[in-house]
Amino acid sequence: MCGIVGYVSAPAAPGASEPAPAIDVILAGLRRMEYRGYDSAGVALVNGSEGVHAAKRAGKLGNLLADLEATPLPEAHTGIGHTRWATHGGPTDNNAHPHLADDGKLALIHNGIIENYAQLKQQLLDEGVEFHSETDTEVAAHWLAGKLRQSGDLTEAMRLTAQDLEGAFTLLAVHVDFPDTVVGARRNSPLVIGLGEGVNFLGSDVAAFIEHTREALEIGQDEVVTITPDSVAIVDLQGNPVQGKPFHVDWDAAAAEKGGYDSFMEKEIHDQPQAVADTLLGRTDAEGRLVLDEMNIDESVLKSIDKIVVIACGTASYAGQVARYAIEHWCRIPTEVELAHEFRYRDPVVNEKTLVVAVSQSGETMDTIMAVRHAREQGAKVIAICNTNGSTIPRESDAALYTHAGPEIAVASTKAFLAQITACYLLGLYLAQLRGNKFADEVRAILDELHQIPAKLSQILEQTKGQVQDLALRYSEAGSVLFLGRHVGFPVALEGALKLKELAYIHAEGFAAGELKHGPIALIEEGQLVFIIVPSKRGRDSLHAKVISNIQEVRARGANTLVIAEEGDEAVREYASEVIYVPQSPTLLAPLLTTVPLQIFAMALATSKGLDVDQPRNLAKSVTVE
Ligand code: F6R
Repeated sequence: MCGIVGYVSAPAAPGASEPAPAIDVILAGLRRMEYRGYDSAGVALVNGSEGVHAAKRAGKLGNLLADLEATPLPEAHTGIGHTRWATHGGPTDNNAHPHLADDGKLALIHNGIIENYAQLKQQLLDEGVEFHSETDTEVAAHWLAGKLRQSGDLTEAMRLTAQDLEGAFTLLAVHVDFPDTVVGARRNSPLVIGLGEGVNFLGSDVAAFIEHTREALEIGQDEVVTITPDSVAIVDLQGNPVQGKPFHVDWDAAAAEKGGYDSFMEKEIHDQPQAVADTLLGRTDAEGRLVLDEMNIDESVLKSIDKIVVIACGTASYAGQVARYAIEHWCRIPTEVELAHEFRYRDPVVNEKTLVVAVSQSGETMDTIMAVRHAREQGAKVIAICNTNGSTIPRESDAALYTHAGPEIAVASTKAFLAQITACYLLGLYLAQLRGNKFADEVRAILDELHQIPAKLSQILEQTKGQVQDLALRYSEAGSVLFLGRHVGFPVALEGALKLKELAYIHAEGFAAGELKHGPIALIEEGQLVFIIVPSKRGRDSLHAKVISNIQEVRARGANTLVIAEEGDEAVREYASEVIYVPQSPTLLAPLLTTVPLQIFAMALATSKGLDVDQPRNLAKSVTVE
């Protein structure tokens, strides 16, 4: 997820006031979109016939601003700007956008993941094109330059480029030969048009231009837009003209950054369908084999490992717990999950036949970094599953698999958790494929199911959110909440309890439902609130029946039972105070769905108590001390 802004204006007529300079508008837009990515920032301006003037810098926008203060770019009326959340290629100056092509006459910025970039890059390399970055974006820039040479028209070139690209992208480009034009294209990534008086804007979201206009146009999937100071034209990929859908923005600037939601947490919960979809993007090669992002471990080593240890902290460790069920089932490799801070100090049995998987959103959690170092010292190979490209944990690991959740601003993790689970599944399937335990058809069937998860998440957010919010209001005075689950429902219970503790400061405990009778059942008294995550009836029937018994046990002792079950499971109704239904899915993939009502519950309950869900007390987003 990156932030994109485009702006066109024209010199004022005699007597009229000059429009704002492009650099000011673009930098102000980038400032408001920094929440979308802060790995690097860059701008490109077109100034009459003088050429494209570009500046870009790794790190936060402040680094670019300092450069521009020292060496200002010439004044211009047209330009594009970008804040990056790195996906392909680390957060370096070279990988920062814009990327130039056509001998520096064309500049292009991008948000998304181009799945077939390796193929296109090979073709360009064969033609003698030189690359200066490791990004998929630079491929698109050169591809666009080629199409421009072919067609002589920037809009047409963008249309032809979009036809050839696979994956998700928003592209914006400027070219010296079209000095009052910004052209854009979108597929599965956001892009909106801002309509001004003698000026027009493009942005990843309305935050890009909200200071200047509140009149906007939606641009649809697979469409190309061309803005000039006094025109906006949209075509589909066949070249047919399309009408954009007008809308008026009535949010203030702060709400615009949150996509109109009340908090970053709410926005990030709603980002989850996209986070899962993006994490799944571009993971198979032409032969249908899974590929990881950075792999410096010999396949023969991976084939010979006899143990996997997942290390992580907090929410990330619960993603690891889900991974254990999936990896052991698919790969038949013994898999342990351990809190990173415990792992390191217990003298674990780890050697060159051990694969360590380090899961971390930030990539900077000190406990996990120290555990990675310890594992490598013992000869183990380490694969990082991380949301932050170029951070310490992937840098110090032997291989990396990036989650593509985009920046997570709210301190407590939501979308990164679902993306971590998704990446863990991909790793499990990759190892299964590599070791020949699963045939291609079976891997494909699971991947197909995974690709259906984003739509099911959207369904939960549309159909179930209101019910869960009502429940949170009804139980807002609860002093303690228990969460029960079995199998993959157990880590979901742990995560549900953690979210409630973090956001609403309520005592909450997650238990393996089978453990209830071994002690925790003593906690149950009249009115105790208990969430129970029920496994699919279509999976292991015995497990379903056992969880039903657990519901009965707590219900019989006066508990209020909030049951999360899959659609069609009528058996749970009898014992539930309330059932929250989620769409059906294979048992192992269910945590991607059953977690969401628990996130919403915690957020809604905290909000009803007037608490700040984005910055809960005492917590830090990235825990860089041991
Ligand atoms: C909880 C939460 C934390 C993190 C943990 C690890 O909502 O966010 O428990 O999961 O501190 O952080 P990362 O994933 O950055 O290593």
